[in-house]
Amino acid sequence: MMNIAVLVSGGGTNLQALIDAEKNGEIKNGKITCVISSNPNAYALERAKQNNIKTVVLNRKDYDDVHKYSADMRDTLLAEKADLVIYAGFMTILDEQVVKAFPNKMMNVHPALIPSFCGKGFYGLHVHEAVLASGVKLTGATVHFVTEECDGGPIIMQKAVEVKNGDTPEILQRRVMEECEWKILPMAASLFCQGRIKVNGKITEII
Ligand code: GAR
Repeated sequence: MMNIAVLVSGGGTNLQALIDAEKNGEIKNGKITCVISSNPNAYALERAKQNNIKTVVLNRKDYDDVHKYSADMRDTLLAEKADLVIYAGFMTILDEQVVKAFPNKMMNVHPALIPSFCGKGFYGLHVHEAVLASGVKLTGATVHFVTEECDGGPIIMQKAVEVKNGDTPEILQRRVMEECEWKILPMAASLFCQGRIKVNGKITEII
């Protein structure tokens, strides 16, 4: 059974999707053993506590630089014996120390179809604002492995939804979460825990 550590910063609806999937037996060979938050006030922490999952707060605001924060995050993940690390609405970019300790063992859910609307500055509602301003007719979500390049790691899964007339960033965010993120993130976690994601450079293959 693989230990899954989930990194959060906010509301934690993606964490909830993972918890629900685990309860329904949809995460084969994986168990959420720890939730780590960069924000002490994240509602995601309540969701973890309600489900008797261990919580750790590593408050980003307590650190002046990302290097020391990343070192402490790496040490926490190693102490928790994490086999898989999931960024579920985790809003801090960690440096190469963490990536090197967990190569192709960390995955992130991003609320757009990478390589569009991604990289530094594209997070949360900003992504959906940019999607609406651009006039694209399709958007969606991507689950990818985390590398040193922000939102640039090998893509594991993507799912698309339509952008509709009258959408606001909030309405579009909800559609992307419900129809894409909450579905593909648990699926990707389950595939990983079963050893079914093969990575060859930028390309992944489900076996
Ligand atoms: C989600 O839409 C997630 O994809 C996004 O923030 C939201 C967090 O919601 N993540 C990013 O933008 C990271 N670049 P949640 O806390 O309810 O899961």
